[in-house]
Parts: sequence; C-alpha cells; structure tokens
Amino acid sequence: MLKVGILGTGAIGTIVANAIDRKQVDAELVALADQDSDRAKDLAAKLSSHSPVVSIEEMIDRSDLCFEAASQAALECFVPKALERGRDMLIMSVGGLLGRQDWFRQAAERGCRIHVPSGALAGLDGIKSASIGRLDSVTLTSRKPVAALLDARYVVDHGLQLETLTEEKVIFEGSVEDAARAFPKTANVAAALRLATSPEVPVRARIVAVPNGKTNIHEIRVSGEFGRFTAIVENNPSQENPRTSQLAAYSAIATLAGLTKVVRVGT
Ligand SMILES: NC(=O)c1ccc[n+]([C@@H]2O[C@H](COP(=O)([O-])OP(=O)(O)OC[C@H]3O[C@@H](n4cnc5c(N)ncnc54)[C@H](O)[C@@H]3O)[C@@H](O)[C@H]2O)c1
Repeated sequence: MLKVGILGTGAIGTIVANAIDRKQVDAELVALADQDSDRAKDLAAKLSSHSPVVSIEEMIDRSDLCFEAASQAALECFVPKALERGRDMLIMSVGGLLGRQDWFRQAAERGCRIHVPSGALAGLDGIKSASIGRLDSVTLTSRKPVAALLDARYVVDHGLQLETLTEEKVIFEGSVEDAARAFPKTANVAAALRLATSPEVPVRARIVAVPNGKTNIHEIRVSGEFGRFTAIVENNPSQENPRTSQLAAYSAIATLAGLTKVVRVGT
C-alpha cells in the first residue's frame, strides 16, 4: 500500500489526512510534519491511524509519497530533501514551483515524480489535451472579492482604492507569471496553469475586483487548433480555512486516489 507522509497539517492537510483515515484513498498515512507540532499532534490524536508526528526529514524517510500542504516557503527546505532521498511529491503550494527548472531536472535524474493537482481550477485536463496541438491563446480571469485583495502587494504598491468601487473592475492585466508575483493568493492557480501549458505559449491573466464579492471565481479561456473552450469555477471557501477553496482540498484527495486506482479517467 502507498505510504503517504503529510507536511502541513492545516486546512488541506487535515482534510486529506481524514480522507486517508476513512479509506477514501487506498493509502497508509505513515507520518505528519508541521512547524506547529501541537497542531500536528492534535490531528494525529483524532486519526485512527495515530500517525506519528515527526521532523520533515523523518516524514520523507518513512514515505513513498510526500504530500505537501504547508507553504511556498516550506518548499525551499522540503523539496531538496525529498529529491535527495528520491521521493515522489504531491505539491499544493504550486506557486513555489514556478521557475524551478532545477528541481524538475533533479527529479528526472533521481527518478522522482512531482504531482500537481488542479487545485481550485477546472479545465486543466482540456488544456493538457489541447497543448498537444497548436494553442493560440490562454487567458485566466480571476474574479476576487475586494476584501480578499486589499492586502495584495500590487494593490498596496499602486495605491488602488478598492473600497470605493461600486462595480467590478479589472485591476491587473499581464502575464500569468507577473500575476503570480503581484497577487500571491492567486499564485497557485496561476502556476498550475503555467505548468500545464508548454513554456513557449504565452498565458495571460486578468484580476477583477468585485465589490461585496463572496467567492473566488476562476475562468480559463483557451483557443487553438482543437477549437475553443471556457471553464469557469465558482469556489466555495473551505470551512477549515476560508482562504482555501474546498475544491482545492478535494482535488488533492482525488489526485492521491488517482495514484492508487486501476482505472484512471481524464487526461
Ligand atoms: N493548488 C491550489 O489550488 C491551492 C489552493 C489552496 C491552497 N493552496 C496552498 O496549499 C498550502 C496549504 O494550504 P492550507 O489552506 O492548508 O494552509 P493552512 O495555513 O491552513 O495550513 C498550513 C500548515 O502548514 C504549516 N507550515 C507552513 N509553513 C511551514 C513550514 N515551512 N514548515 C512546516 N510546516 C509549515 C503551518 O503551520 C500550517 O499548519 C498553502 O501554501 C496554500 O497556498 C493551494
């Protein structure tokens, strides 16, 4: 059975640990690691597996696959250690993988796989298929509640007065890489889209501020040799962490479950 260790026992880590515990995923939860060890111990106490709370290094040593749901900063320490030990990884903090061709090269050399779930996005399956042919344009439009944008670096640096908006407004248009830097909360979605397309295909991003908005809405528009499609997802926040979409946590479980299934559906 697949031995899974979890780094990060916050909203997503907890939902995934519970899914393994109730056998929704055919895997064994062998270790938990978190910089907040009390949080990890609280979770361990509620699991029937009573998985041990250990250091990052020990979690990696005990696992076939390391599930990361911590932070982009955590990747700097965790990924090199997992690569050194030749472990497969499933990464939620996808923004931290942008531009890390060095890690991808090392993974290829060490024979490790890096799995990136669709997270809060829908439509990556279509983009992957479409990428086999010519892609003409890929655009991500993220509609976000004003309240969720107020502390974004770009909004602060440009002195944008979003509180006074009475109707939705496009506040950023540019490359998906620039969007990930300017709006760190969009970084995971932007990075997943970037990684799903070939590097030579430009991917554009638009951020729209929505006064009194309640949900994060991501729309992908793609056109190319295959035709065109639009995928829109309106995300409900997770109950454990309102900054995380419920779909992102479900997507982590579905990706893990997919690794152990005989029949895999979807690109
Ligand atoms: N791919 C996606 O679409 C998507 C969607 C939502 C969230 N995410 C990302 O997934 C990650 C987890 O999200 P969450 O909502 O569960 O967060 P969370 O804040 O609820 O939990 C994160 C946990 O990781 C721990 N942690 C953080 N940095 C650490 C480090 N350096 N070493 C050890 N432990 C560390 C924290 O103590 C905390 O317990 C975040 O990076 C978030 O941005 C990705």
